[in-house]
Amino acid sequence: MGLGQPFGSYQNEIYLNGLGGIVPSYPMAFAELEDRASSALPPSVWSYVAGGAGDERTQRANVTAFDRWGLVPRMFVGAAERDLSVDLFGMRLPSPVFMAPIGVIGLCAQDGHGDLATARAAARTGVPMIASTLTVDPLEEVAGEFGDTPGLFQLYTPTDRDLAASLVHRAEQAGYKGIVVTLDTWVTGWRPRDLSTANFPQLRGHCLANYTSDPVFRARLARTPEEDPQSAVLLWTQLFGNPLTWDDLPWLRSLTDLPLIVKGICHPEDVRRAKDGGVDGVYCSNHGGRQANGGLPALDALPAVVEAADGLPVLFDSGIRSGADIVKAIALGATAVGIGRPYAYGLALGGTDGIVHVLRSLLAEADLIMAVDGYPTLPDLTREALQRVV
Ligand SMILES: Cc1cc2nc3c(=O)[nH]c(=O)nc-3n(C[C@H](O)[C@H](O)[C@H](O)COP(=O)(O)O)c2cc1C
Repeated sequence: MGLGQPFGSYQNEIYLNGLGGIVPSYPMAFAELEDRASSALPPSVWSYVAGGAGDERTQRANVTAFDRWGLVPRMFVGAAERDLSVDLFGMRLPSPVFMAPIGVIGLCAQDGHGDLATARAAARTGVPMIASTLTVDPLEEVAGEFGDTPGLFQLYTPTDRDLAASLVHRAEQAGYKGIVVTLDTWVTGWRPRDLSTANFPQLRGHCLANYTSDPVFRARLARTPEEDPQSAVLLWTQLFGNPLTWDDLPWLRSLTDLPLIVKGICHPEDVRRAKDGGVDGVYCSNHGGRQANGGLPALDALPAVVEAADGLPVLFDSGIRSGADIVKAIALGATAVGIGRPYAYGLALGGTDGIVHVLRSLLAEADLIMAVDGYPTLPDLTREALQRVV
């Protein structure tokens, strides 16, 4: 499984290839990656992936929040060897990086099977994928491509409890190593880009394979989804969004013995209650600013979440665009860091190869920053390693 270490050696590979006249096929800078993906994707998919809630102020603030922190270089450390590995929910991972769940990732691939391409990138890099509930291919087929890399399943909790249990048990059977319950998306946020083209992929029947392949979902239909796709979509709209309350947490906990992680947690009091409710980890995220505009950058919520978690693993995403961002999120206390849009753009440009390039670039940059600045291991990256930029 995974990439050869050190991760920074990706740059040697690139420079050595250059001696033979070969330059990288994929962009090295995020701005170019984003720009090229915008041309590669159909306009409706592009606006769904790149767009966010409202005027996208929160989405932009997620990214610029990283500019307000700077890593302090330390010398005479001799950080010739770095160790980015991390223990998470009983898994030993080569790096603290994972791929955040992206519901329409399936549509971002040229062949329309982006979930499988993402799972193959996980197999090649050792970077785990959190597979969304909203996939083109069923969760079992996605897991079939993970190789030796562990994967997690993200649950959008349906209103039908039997369906929720069925999805979780299918994920268990398929070998997923954890269940991530997303709490901030029981209703879709106000997204002007998608509204202006009146485009919501799931209503057009996209990315519903986990439902249409589910025995409980199918049993709720008079005719099969193959015979009558419209009725399947209608049923999906009725079952999709469950506005959970704390009273539902014991039930969610009872669904599985797998690690249970709750996504969308940004307030310390919510951390404490989730912890009391027996979760194994909290996931600090504002959904990349796609759900509610007018909010805090997720990074600004992270330190208080980490403090309240008091040793419980904290996953983080929203705004990670570079290796430097990964390093800063770790220094602010994240146990593991989720990559979102950047891997979707890599997929759009080059399928599995494009994702592998994006992940290797992010990891190489993080590794080289740790080398240059003298922080050889993740525990060395503490809050004291950072200074606020004034
Ligand atoms: C197109 C798209 C689809 C997403 N679908 C899901 C999803 O199905 N489940 C989920 O929990 N989060 C979903 N997210 C949110 C991501 O998991 C993650 O929180 C977000 O992408 C982080 O923001 P960033 O990409 O700007 O860094 C989605 C994000 C995008 C961009």
